[in-house]
Amino acid sequence: MFYRHPKPFPDGFLWGASTSSYQVEGAWNEDGKGMSVQDLHTPPAGITDFKVASDHYHHMEEDVALMAELGLKAYRFSISWSRVMPEGDGAVNEAGLAFYDRLVDALVAHDITPVATMFHFDLPLALHERGGWANRATVDAFERYALVLFERLGDRIKMWLTINEQNVMVIHPNAMNPGRLPEAPELYQQSHNMFVASAKATLMLHEMWPDAKIGPAPNITAIYPQSCDPADVVAADNWESIRCWNYLDVACFGRYNPIAWAYMEEKGCTPVFEEGDAELLAAAKPDYLGVNYYATATVAAPKNDGTDRAARAGDQQVMLGEEGVYRSGANDHLTATEYGWIIDPIGMRTTLRRVASRYGLPILITENGLGARDTLEADGRVHDPYRIDYLRRHFEQAQLAISDGVNLIGYCPWSFMDLVSTHQGYGKRYGFVYIDRDEEDIRSMARIRKDSFAWYKHVIETNGAEL
Ligand code: BG6
Repeated sequence: MFYRHPKPFPDGFLWGASTSSYQVEGAWNEDGKGMSVQDLHTPPAGITDFKVASDHYHHMEEDVALMAELGLKAYRFSISWSRVMPEGDGAVNEAGLAFYDRLVDALVAHDITPVATMFHFDLPLALHERGGWANRATVDAFERYALVLFERLGDRIKMWLTINEQNVMVIHPNAMNPGRLPEAPELYQQSHNMFVASAKATLMLHEMWPDAKIGPAPNITAIYPQSCDPADVVAADNWESIRCWNYLDVACFGRYNPIAWAYMEEKGCTPVFEEGDAELLAAAKPDYLGVNYYATATVAAPKNDGTDRAARAGDQQVMLGEEGVYRSGANDHLTATEYGWIIDPIGMRTTLRRVASRYGLPILITENGLGARDTLEADGRVHDPYRIDYLRRHFEQAQLAISDGVNLIGYCPWSFMDLVSTHQGYGKRYGFVYIDRDEEDIRSMARIRKDSFAWYKHVIETNGAEL
């Protein structure tokens, strides 16, 4: 649809930015924090681990002051479960909880809406060693963790996200399961237990804080068929249902997506429901949807000849394609980042339209951004016109999605500051704020505003009228 006058971004639009605890905090073993699965991460030579990260734990006040200078209306961060409960269950670590107390106070003092993710890839190691999310006891532990968070922070945090990218943890489980890669039946049981945990937290929050809002934060993207060959169209539908809709269908409709369920039956990986699960899933209703959007995917019908599964271009650690379901296709209309991630701003509009049409809920973009090898120039500046261009083109499409009728309430680019990428270290930077460190040398840790910082500040000041 073409609009002569696209609708403006609405008043109160939550211009924000995102991070996650293990990727920015550092202080991996300080003040009583327990270990998480990410602390076991052993990166390849030349790539940093998560022990120091961006040292946000020790720079929190300075970082929040920079958020205020940028003019952020919202900050989406995650809470480290093992900082709050070192064993994942049982004793609460007061020092860890106090860190989030101070962070939330600082945000509120600057009129920045805190948007807290309860679990972002960093399962407490003690729970992992007892079977992780496949063990139903982890659901009970999450419920107790949720109670601690809501009691202590619920008076000030009114926007919660339960679980970050549950679908990615099923599709690319390597980083979340150190020491052992589970087979599909275990992964789908992990996922089911996460659905139940989210539902319990959703019901609990609504009971304790009726004025607060909560939702999931999966990674959602439109999937394109490589051609109009009907077999390619079915393959695209397969993958969109299994990769995306299943996660929002369970959260919003309280039942599994039928195509995804048929896939699980075919592969022998349907999860075991405990008594009451179906009712619980049906009862818990999210108030809004977090959507992490990076790139669309183009897929073709599988060949079923042993070649359907292959590494994603530019990233040998990410395998895509599955016999009988889909294979990765090519899309000549799109370019990619230096890391091989497809750049598709219009695809974001399509994704938002599809999510809005299916679920009719407010949407917060909880992640979207460009990973690049930024350099600190001799003049002490970081020039990142490519990031400005990337975000400008995505913001334009967000505005068109709003014009299409999508109830988009905010946009939190990934990431506020540079941080450690999930598996590609510190060289791959996403932030508006450059952190003076590299993979192996911790240098000064100084916070340096990139060119994109000044640009985004102006976007926020004009509420998106000047991109
Ligand atoms: C999302 C995750 O999948 O993508 C983030 O929620 C992650 O944790 C981001 O950092 C970018 O991915 P990567 O692999 O470049 O860090």
